[in-house]
Amino acid sequence: MQVMVIGSGYVGLVAAVGFAESGHSVIGVDVDVAKIKKLRQGISPIYEPGLDELLKKHQESGALKFTLDMQEGIAVAHAAFICVGTPQSEDGSADLQFVIAVAKELGRHMHLRAKDAKPLIVVDKSTVPVGTAAKVTAAMAAETDQAFEVVSNPEFLREGCAIDDFLLPDRVVIGCRTDYAEAIMKGLYQAHLDAARKRNPEGGKWFRMDPPSAEMTKYTANAMLALRISFMNEIAALCEKVGADVDFVKVGIGSDHRIGKYFLNPGPGFGGSCFPKDLQALLKIARENGQSLRSLEATVEVNRHQKQVLARKVREHYGCVTGATAGLAGKRFVLWGLAFKAHTDDIREAMALELIENLVGQGAELIVHDFEAMPNVKARIGDKVRYAEDFMAACEGADALLIATEWPQYQQADLKAVAERLKAKVMFDGRNLFRPETMKAEGWIYHSIGRLPVGL
Ligand SMILES: NC(=O)c1ccc[n+]([C@@H]2O[C@H](COP(=O)([O-])OP(=O)(O)OC[C@H]3O[C@@H](n4cnc5c(N)ncnc54)[C@H](O)[C@@H]3O)[C@@H](O)[C@H]2O)c1
Repeated sequence: MQVMVIGSGYVGLVAAVGFAESGHSVIGVDVDVAKIKKLRQGISPIYEPGLDELLKKHQESGALKFTLDMQEGIAVAHAAFICVGTPQSEDGSADLQFVIAVAKELGRHMHLRAKDAKPLIVVDKSTVPVGTAAKVTAAMAAETDQAFEVVSNPEFLREGCAIDDFLLPDRVVIGCRTDYAEAIMKGLYQAHLDAARKRNPEGGKWFRMDPPSAEMTKYTANAMLALRISFMNEIAALCEKVGADVDFVKVGIGSDHRIGKYFLNPGPGFGGSCFPKDLQALLKIARENGQSLRSLEATVEVNRHQKQVLARKVREHYGCVTGATAGLAGKRFVLWGLAFKAHTDDIREAMALELIENLVGQGAELIVHDFEAMPNVKARIGDKVRYAEDFMAACEGADALLIATEWPQYQQADLKAVAERLKAKVMFDGRNLFRPETMKAEGWIYHSIGRLPVGL
């Protein structure tokens, strides 16, 4: 099939290479000139495991092209996916200006299609509030009388394993009104669904529903996952008070099939490009409809507090007065991990940024490392911190090691060699990468989440 993917960011790029991989002919569109230039050279503007290889493979085969011009491909396209950003507006709602701009532009180019062409299936893949399919329909209809149908197809990929999630989906949710739209969408995803079922008979599920329900499904999924994390972070704080170990509690409850083992990791609070803004958007929808969502308000509040957890532990350890501006003057810390989670370069709403603000604000010196996110952080905060290419060498002469992202290389680090470089064997681990009893036996003072500090 012929597919247009509009917006070549984390979602659009993965969708574009994913559909090319399953045999479709894809045109990726973006307004960012530098991004398209890079993509045409076969260079991915983002880090996502497996993306570079597929990008190269399908550009070479001709299955995948990139353009700045949305007119290209519209004459023959079966479907056009809208994958542009929906950032948070000041009032919390999702800002739909990019989505609507794309809808209008698509509408203006519809005259390039034959008069008797089958309807263009316009797919809202961006995460959008309930009612957006209707708004996109209206925006397009104002520009064209050619046939089209807007469907909702929320994206559930996880950064860091996005290619796998796209090619082997647990489920595909389609909100549409006609069998024709469903048939086109099924045709696009069939190979993905078959492959997913082959790997796991429980995977590759297909759900057709109306567009508003599909739109609500995406927000509800993110709200539920965020709620689990915030809940576990509160339980972790209580574990510290009562002398329990949240890691044991986690496996204890996760083995209950009614609960399940996923999204139970306590940590330094959730970040990323989706949960924070999607939760605010859902709260806004609830407010507009006179419906309270108190559990979600609590989820957001718990997370706001949790993002300071490492800074709090550092301050307490060094006996700093809360609110003091120079309580950490003369201290040098190494920070391992900047991305909001491992296997991505995405720093949107990353906890590490708040931690840096906090510690630098109190006079500390920071040397930071990440396997992929350092250029993005440097572009955001410049020389506020020092950047280390070698995460082991960075430890030389530092007062303590802080961990904010769960890159596996950190967990596999030689802790004896780390200890030799540090001034003191002190670690603040926001990801619970190590067991407290092992750390204690090796002479560390070890602070983590939801377990009592050891070695003090
Ligand atoms: N990142 C994720 O993990 C994820 C997962 C599921 C859903 N989503 C949702 O998908 C959407 C996109 O997210 P993202 O992370 O890919 O964003 P992104 O910012 O990485 O990418 C958006 C891209 O759209 C381009 N763009 C903006 N206006 C355009 C226009 N008029 N025409 C063509 N291109 C245009 C931008 O230049 C950018 O490259 C959001 O709604 C997000 O909530 C994201």
